[in-house]
Formats: sequence, C-alpha cells, structure tokens
Amino acid sequence: LLKLILILILMKLKSLIVVLLCIVVCSSCEQPPIEAYAVLPQPQEINYIQGFVKLKDKPMVVYANELSNEALLLASYLKNDFAVEVTLEEGKDKGDVILLLDSTVLPDKKGGYVLEAAGSRITIKASTPEGVFNGVQTLRQIIKEREGRLTVQKALVTDYPAFSWRAFMLDEGRYFKGKEVVLNLLDRMAELKMNVFHWHLTDDQGWRIEIKKYPKLTEVGAFRDSSEINHFHSNVFDGKPHGGFYTQDDIKEVVDYAAKRHIMIVPEIEMPGHASAAIASYPWLGTTGKQIKVPCNFGVHYNAYNVADPRVIQFQGDVLEEVIALFPSPVIHIGGDEAPRTRWAVCPKCQALVKKEGLKADKKHTSEDRLQSYCMKRVEQFLNERGRQIIGWDEILEGDVAPNATVMSWRGMQGGIEAAKLKHDVIMTPNDYVYFDYYQSADKEQEPMAMGSCITVEKVYNFEPVADELADEEKKHILGAQANVWTEYIGTPEHVEYMMVPRMAALAEVQWMMPEKKSYQGFLNRLGSLAEFYKRDNVNYAKHILPEVVPAQTK
Ligand code: ACM
Repeated sequence: LLKLILILILMKLKSLIVVLLCIVVCSSCEQPPIEAYAVLPQPQEINYIQGFVKLKDKPMVVYANELSNEALLLASYLKNDFAVEVTLEEGKDKGDVILLLDSTVLPDKKGGYVLEAAGSRITIKASTPEGVFNGVQTLRQIIKEREGRLTVQKALVTDYPAFSWRAFMLDEGRYFKGKEVVLNLLDRMAELKMNVFHWHLTDDQGWRIEIKKYPKLTEVGAFRDSSEINHFHSNVFDGKPHGGFYTQDDIKEVVDYAAKRHIMIVPEIEMPGHASAAIASYPWLGTTGKQIKVPCNFGVHYNAYNVADPRVIQFQGDVLEEVIALFPSPVIHIGGDEAPRTRWAVCPKCQALVKKEGLKADKKHTSEDRLQSYCMKRVEQFLNERGRQIIGWDEILEGDVAPNATVMSWRGMQGGIEAAKLKHDVIMTPNDYVYFDYYQSADKEQEPMAMGSCITVEKVYNFEPVADELADEEKKHILGAQANVWTEYIGTPEHVEYMMVPRMAALAEVQWMMPEKKSYQGFLNRLGSLAEFYKRDNVNYAKHILPEVVPAQTK
C-alpha cells in the first residue's frame, strides 16, 4: 500500500512538473501584441496574424516578367524611404518580397490586390500591374523599424477601391508651376492610390502647352506682365512678369512618369471661355478681332472663342490633334465652364450661326447657351471620331448636353445628380467640399489669402460623392471624386503643398473606402504615420492643421 501511495504521489508530482514546465515555456514564447497598420487609404480588409516578418538587410525582390516597372519602383521606394538596397530577380518564385500576377485575384475589382505578410516573406498579387502597384504603396506604409530591423506586422490584406476615378486637379493656367512640382504631385498621388491627374493647362492668364502649329500660343500666351494680388478685382498688381510652359517633350516625360505610377493624365484645354491667353496670341480667335494682352487680373473674363468662325473651328481641331497625340487618355477635358455669352450676343457671325442652326431660346436657356452646346457637341464629335470621349464642367448641361460627355460637377452636387439621371457618367468635385484653394481653417487671419469659404480636413473627409436620391442604376454613373487646386492666389510650389496636404489624405479615403467603413477618428489615428513621410520629404504641409487633428501619441 505504501508503494502504491508513493507511486501516486510521484505521478502527481510528474504532472505538476509538466504543468509548471508548460507555464514557463509558454510565458517565454509569449507573442507580441498585434500592431495595427496605419495605412492611408485604409484597406478594405485586414486579417492580422501573430508576429512580424523581419526583412533581411538586403532583401530579394522577385517578380513576374510583366512587373519589372513595379519591382523597380518598389526598389526605389525602399531605398528612398528606408535606405534599403534590394536584389531584384525576374521570373523566380522564391524571395523575401514576391510580386505576382494572378488572374484569379479580385478580377472584377480594378486596382485590387492581395498582400500577404506571413512566414518570412511578403507576397503581393493582383490580376493587373496596377493592382500590384497599389499593393506596393500599402507595403511602403506598413514597414516599420523594430529593434533595429525593418519588419512588417503579419497579416492578410484584401483591398480594392470604391471608385475608379480617384483624381486630383492642378491649375497651371493662373501660375505655371513647372515639371518638378508636377512630378512630385504625381508621387504624392501615387502614395495615396490616386489614379487620375487632371491637368488644367490653358486659361485666361496663361497657355501652358506647346502647340507646334500655333507657336504664338506659348511665345505670347504663356507670359503676362504682372499678376493681381490681394483679391479678385483689387486692381493691385505685383509688377512682376510671370510665365512658362511645357514643351511637348516635357509633356511626354510627365505622361510617361505618370503612366509608370498607373496615373492617367487628363489634359484640359478650355473652351469656349477662359480663352484670353489664346486670343492674345491670335486675335482672330476672339469675337472682336482686336489685339488684347494676356490678362494680369483674375476672375471670369469676357473673352470667348468666336465659335462661328471656320478658322476657330480649324484651330480647335488642330490643337486637339496635337493634344491627343501627346496624351493617351481615353478622355479629354474641354472645359465648358464660365463662358460668358455677352460677346456672342453682339457678334454678327455668332448671331448668323444661331439663326442658321435654329438655336432658339426657351424658358431655361438663351440662344447663346444653345450656341455653347452646339460648339461642345461639335468638339465632342471631332474627338469621338478619333476614339476619344469628352469631359466638361457642369455648365455643359445648359442647353443640350453633348451625347457621350462625362460631366464634372463643380457647382455643388446638383449638376452631377442631374447628369447621372440623364445617364451621363459623372465626376463629383463640388466646390463646397473639395476645392483646395479655399481656406482650410476657420481662423482666416492666420492663413495665407485664399478663396472665400473654409473647407476643413474633416469636411473633406465627410464628403460623400454618391447622393442618396439617385437610384441604384444612376449611382453607377458616379465614377468618383476629385479635388481641385485653382491657383489664382497660389503662386509657389510651397503654397500648393500647403493647400494640398493634409486635405489630400482625407480625399484619398473618400475615393478608396466604402462609405460605411469610413471613420474620421480612425483616419486621424492613421494620419500621424503619413505625416512622418511628409516630414521626411520636407513637404510644406499645413503643420498647424495636423496638431489639431492628429492625437498626440501618433504625432
Ligand atoms: C470652375 O471652378 N470654374 C470649374
């Protein structure tokens, strides 16, 4: 019996020892807590896995044949962001970072990708190079230094955009910025997975694109004597000549740079208004035929193309021929906004055309409104015959809208809603939510002079491009959202950055995320990590805005 008791005690002791050992072993391999990603825009789905992928000092990036552009960009990002040199290997399937094309990955979600950080490697796969590129942008934002090593919290990310049109517009007509500014902007856009750059290249105060057939457009139209300061109609001028333009070689370089970053450039050639710089170059383009100077003052000007003159029709076609040879985008923006009708009302040729074409006024529209739509329809037909579609500002709805036109809704949402009901595709860029030339803080005294009202980061974040009142079929016509930086008051690259950042980051979440998943607080929590990128790159972001919106621990 004594023996039996002894055996039982020993057995108990053994299991006690086993339990104790388990406790010791488990506590020594206790997993670190999950560190949530701070990615902007926030991916659709992240499933975290315990632990970190630790990158080697010189990681090997392997990639499918068609992904050499994405692999090279990843290598340049890692070098720039983290001073890491990588080895690039095409066509291999084993490495530390693997870029893959796989037609079964989110095939109906354009731009979608899957990123897997598991085991000792990171795999990004998508059905298109664009998707892989978006995954690369996510990867840049989730690499963190931990205990002297570059690491990535393990996770499976499945991601795709809410909207196909994720755009940003820069006005170069008012102030010419130059290639460096545009290339930097394209990089900032790519970082936020934006995919359309709307380049506003012509306006009253400057023509910025070389057109070989009409050299005076840039010899004359790209330069003005002075610029109005203080406010529109202040009649106070800085007395400094201003000007500049892009040669066709510059344009090709910028288009190529954008294409590598999966950004389509949509050029805007304004017509029939905002045409003073062109008319200053070739006075016969206007209704009076008189020589004018490139205007130095801002605000809407009275000059418009003489749309009834066959030479003007020829000119518009010639310019667009050169434009479409430079820009592969399936859509070309032809303006259409703020074209004053006053000069047409007193232009005999225009009135003769109104009569000939039977362009009759009705309760809603004047015969000059109809003349504008007549002109836009003709330009649309010209571009359609060459395989391109048009986009115009929402004024193109006044009169008869050109049949295949995409409408860019800027005077609020109403134009876009109306256009979607008429089955036109729509880009939402309402001036009360996404005009980044407006003040970004209510404390206007502390801000550089800007346009009238105030659009805070939070207001941008809360922008919802799809109006509830639209039926499901109509909602499909809302292609996406865009912010605009008009530059009447914005003369320098630093000032452009100041107006863009951080509002641009809020816009990116509007463009990418499903509305029901958006959270302003979540955005603020993640914004701090992007601010680190801005600091690193010396971006002149609105620093007094970030402390207001970013909680202290993430700054
Ligand atoms: C615009 O802001 N005039 C389109």
